[in-house]
Parts: sequence; structure tokens; C-alpha cells
Amino acid sequence: MHRLAAAMLVSLLCCFLFIATLKAQQQPQPAASDNTASPPSCIPHERDALLAFKHAVTSDPAGLLTSWRRDGGHGEQDCCRWRGVRCSNRTGHVHELRLRNTREEAAAMEGKISPSLLALDHLEHLDLSWNDLTGPSGRLPEFLGSLKNLSYLNLSSIPFYGGLPPQFGNLSRMQYLDLSNSNFRGDTNSTDLSWLTRLSSIQYLNLDLVNLSTVVDWHHVMNMLPSLRVLHLSDCSLASANQSLPHLNLTNLEELDASWNSFDHPMVTSWFWNITSLRYLYLHATSMYGQFPDALGDMTSLQVLDLSYNYNNDEKYRIMTTDLKNLCNLEVLNLDWALLYGDIAELFRNKLPRCSPNKLQELDLNWNQLTGMLPRWIGQLTSLVILNLGRNNITGSLPISVGQLTGL
Ligand SMILES: *[C@@H]1O[C@H](CO)[C@@H](O)[C@H](O)[C@H]1NC(C)=O
Ligand SMILES: *[C@@H]1O[C@H](CO)[C@@H](O)[C@H](O)[C@H]1NC(C)=O
Ligand SMILES: *[C@@H]1O[C@H](CO)[C@@H](O)[C@H](O)[C@H]1NC(C)=O
Ligand SMILES: *[C@@H]1O[C@H](CO)[C@@H](O)[C@H](O)[C@H]1NC(C)=O
Ligand SMILES: *[C@@H]1O[C@H](CO)[C@@H](O)[C@H](O)[C@H]1NC(C)=O
Ligand SMILES: *[C@@H]1O[C@H](CO)[C@@H](O)[C@H](O)[C@H]1NC(C)=O
Ligand SMILES: *[C@@H]1O[C@H](CO)[C@@H](O)[C@H](O)[C@H]1NC(C)=O
Ligand SMILES: *[C@@H]1O[C@H](CO)[C@@H](O)[C@H](O)[C@H]1NC(C)=O
Ligand SMILES: *[C@@H]1O[C@H](CO)[C@@H](O)[C@H](O)[C@H]1NC(C)=O
Ligand SMILES: *[C@@H]1O[C@H](CO)[C@@H](O)[C@H](O)[C@H]1NC(C)=O
Repeated sequence: MHRLAAAMLVSLLCCFLFIATLKAQQQPQPAASDNTASPPSCIPHERDALLAFKHAVTSDPAGLLTSWRRDGGHGEQDCCRWRGVRCSNRTGHVHELRLRNTREEAAAMEGKISPSLLALDHLEHLDLSWNDLTGPSGRLPEFLGSLKNLSYLNLSSIPFYGGLPPQFGNLSRMQYLDLSNSNFRGDTNSTDLSWLTRLSSIQYLNLDLVNLSTVVDWHHVMNMLPSLRVLHLSDCSLASANQSLPHLNLTNLEELDASWNSFDHPMVTSWFWNITSLRYLYLHATSMYGQFPDALGDMTSLQVLDLSYNYNNDEKYRIMTTDLKNLCNLEVLNLDWALLYGDIAELFRNKLPRCSPNKLQELDLNWNQLTGMLPRWIGQLTSLVILNLGRNNITGSLPISVGQLTGL
């Protein structure tokens, strides 16, 4: 009996110990979920850097930085919880600053970008777009080129003077660089883009509206960026695109926007016609004349092709000679004011994509000099949503098959 009691006591004790051990093992569990609920709070010297950044912002009408406060009072001491600040949930280092002004122009922050940002040496993502932060110098700060870990930099719509800082070429991890729409002051100039060639991981480059009128070798620079997927050079005052390239590196390029540049040379002499990976090609208002290149017919990845408003002062009308029949991915074809003349039935029959299923959703032939009658089979373009044939000289009645275009 005594023995039995002792044995029971021992097993009870064991049981208790076991449960206690289990409990102890479970201990880290709640601690871990606490961790995900509140990741490590921010690093003091990084908080100081952010406060110095705020100090250099002289006006913040939208209150983007209102939550950035040192005191524990109304503000939040943990800078990782400040608006627009994202920290690594592992190390507490600031990884992202998302300070885009998403409101109207009057909501832009004003002031300058404090060099204190350099203390954030783990920063990967910096978005200051639509703010007015170039200070009295009006220039883009060169020191941003020392934020080595940046892979995303968005300074879009920040008005600045002068050139693009070559120091940005030190940002070797850069993947998304957006310096577009910054020319409000009409005084940007960049003569040398060779620093770009050091951004060997860049996928997205947007220089819309940056004045590149004196950069003659821009094609060569871009061709040194084989990882590029998206390239925007709209309204850059580029002088021409008729350079020749011995070897095409841009085999990943999916989107090219070169619209609003006055190239003023024959269309066929442009260097980009054999980038067959292109899905989006925007060449609106580039003052290129002459025939469309035959190579266009082999750009079978194209989904959007915009050749509208292409004419130069001589206003030579052209007949469509390029066969687009194999462009089976084409969804948008914009030939608005492309100075086309000739028989529209012939254009539909022999030049436009005739694929099954047909993906063409938007066809704009507005303001050309096309003549003749619409073909009966137009009803086979079953995906059409927008069809613009205005300001031509088309005759005859509307084919009955148009009634099949239920999405029109
Ligand atoms: C950290 O955050 C990422 C994404 O926000 C999440 O996938 C990951 O699980 C988090 N890690 C920890 C340790 O909380
Ligand atoms: C950049 O990031 C890596 C890893 O995230 C980190 O080890 C390094 O210290 C960071 N800073 C610099 C300046 O490279
Ligand atoms: C940069 O910011 C602008 C405006 O805020 C935005 O439209 C654009 O998509 C951004 N660029 C990238 C690469 O995210
Ligand atoms: C670019 O503009 C700045 C002033 O904004 C001027 O000092 C500089 O000489 C200009 N450079 C060129 C090449 O025009
Ligand atoms: C950054 O780039 C500039 C100009 O391209 C160069 O002179 C400088 O040495 C570079 N700095 C670093 C730290 O690499
Ligand atoms: C671009 O810069 C050139 C030379 O610096 C200048 O002549 C031209 O007017 C500028 N273009 C625009 C649109 O500002
Ligand atoms: C193609 O890209 C590589 C890597 O950037 C470069 O070394 C090479 O010179 C480029 N070729 C041409 C013809 O630009
Ligand atoms: C591009 O096309 C031109 C003219 O058709 C040709 O001379 C050149 O070799 C082509 N380049 C590549 C890389 O295919
Ligand atoms: C390229 O076009 C320009 C006009 O934009 C012209 O002056 C130049 O002679 C052309 N160059 C070649 C090689 O065709
Ligand atoms: C359209 O056709 C009419 C009659 O054939 C002709 O007088 C007129 O010049 C043509 N307009 C255009 C823009 O071709």
C-alpha cells in the first residue's frame, strides 16, 4: 500500500514535471507570436536620421510626416510605425520610405532632402515622388548615389534644375529608377548618360520629360542594360533614333515609349525594330516619315502598337506596305493620323492581324485618307471594343456583320 502510494506519487510527479516541461517548451511560442505582432522597434540612430529628414522639410501640407515624433506623447516612438516607414521585421533596420504625395500639387512637401538619409544604409526603397524637395539649389542630391542598397528610387515629378547626377551610377542594386516628369522648370540638361551602364540589374527606367537633347549615344547606353524590361523616354527632346547597333542586347525589353521626340528621319532607319520581345511600343508623335518597316511584321509579341501622329512637315502620305497579319497578340493598334492612304478593304484584308481568336480590341484609323468600302468580314474582329474610322473617305454602307461586334 505504502509502496503503491509512493509509486502513484512518483508518477504524479512525473506527470507534473512532464506538463511543466511542455509548458516551458511552449513558452517561446507566445513570445514568437508577440514578435510578429510587434517586430523589433526602430534603431535609435535611424530614428534620429528620419527626424533630421523631417527637419529639412519646411512644408508638409498633407501631414505625411505628422506621425514622425520623438516624444512618446501623441506620437509613436517606434519609428517603424511612422507613416511611410517600413522596417525589416527581423533586424529593425529601415528598409522602405514611401512618401509619395498622392494628393494634388498643393499637398506636396517642400524643402530639401537631408543627407541624414545616408544613415539608413539598409534602405532599399525610396519614393519621394510628387514632392518639391530639391531645396534652394534646385538640383537632385548627388548623395543619394551612396545609398548602396537602393533597388527602387522614385523621384518622379520632383522639379529640378541641371543634370542627372552621375553618382546614381553607384546604385548597383537598382532595379526601378523613375526620374520622370521633373522638367517643370524647363531647365534640365544631361549630356552624359554613361553612368547608367553601371546599373546592371535595372529593369525599369523612366526618364520621361528629362531633356536629353545633347545625348547622342542614348541607344548605345540603353543597349548596355540587358536586364531592362521597361524603358520610358517620352518627350526627352531626343534628336534621332537612326543610329545603328551591331548587336542587340535588349532581349528582355517589353515596353518602349519614345513618343513625343522629333526624330525627323525615315521610320525604317530606327534602331529598335528588331527588339522582338516588345509587347508595348509607343511611337506617338515622333515625326518619322516614310514606310513602316517590314520588321514590324515579325514583332509577334506586340500587344499595343501606337504609331499615331507620325508625319513630318513635308506631309507625305504613305500606303501601308507592312504586313501585320501575324501579330496575333495585338490588342491595340493606333494609326490615328499616320498619313495612310489607299483602299481600306485592302488594308483590312492584307495588312491587319487576322488571327483566330482575334484579340484586337482597339483599332484607330482616324484622320487618314483611306478610301473604298469596309470589308464584309469585319464582323470577325470579335474582340473589338473601339473602332475609329473617322475623317477618312470611306464609301458604301456599313457591313451587316458589324452587328456581330457585341463588345463594340
Ligand atoms: C516579416 O514580414 C514578411 C512580409 O511582410 C513576412 O512574410 C515574414 O513572415 C515576416 N517575418 C517574421 C519573422 O515575422
Ligand atoms: C545592405 O543590405 C545588406 C543585407 O540586407 C546588409 O548586410 C548591408 O549592411 C546593407 N548596407 C550596405 C551599405 O550594404
Ligand atoms: C513613381 O511615382 C509615380 C507618381 O507617384 C508613379 O506614377 C510611378 O508609377 C512610380 N514609378 C514606379 C516605377 O513605381
Ligand atoms: C546645364 O545646366 C546648368 C544650369 O542649370 C549649367 O550650369 C550647365 O552648364 C548646363 N550644362 C549644359 C551641358 O548645358
Ligand atoms: C560614385 O560615383 C562617382 C561618379 O560617378 C564617383 O566619382 C565616386 O567615386 C563614386 N563613389 C563611390 C562611393 O563609389
Ligand atoms: C533641351 O535642352 C536644349 C539644350 O540645352 C535646349 O536648347 C532645349 O530648348 C531644351 N528643350 C526643352 C524642351 O526644354
Ligand atoms: C551588351 O551588354 C553587355 C553587358 O552590359 C556589354 O558588356 C556589351 O558591351 C553590350 N554590347 C553592346 C553591343 O552594346
Ligand atoms: C536588326 O536588324 C538590322 C536590319 O534589319 C540588322 O542589320 C541587324 O543585324 C539586326 N540586329 C539583330 C541583333 O538582330
Ligand atoms: C539621322 O537623322 C538625322 C535627322 O534626325 C539626320 O540629320 C542624320 O543625318 C541621320 N543619320 C543617319 C546615319 O541617317
Ligand atoms: C474624298 O472623296 C471625294 C470624292 O471622291 C474627293 O473629292 C475628296 O477630295 C476626297 N477627300 C480626301 C481627303 O481624299
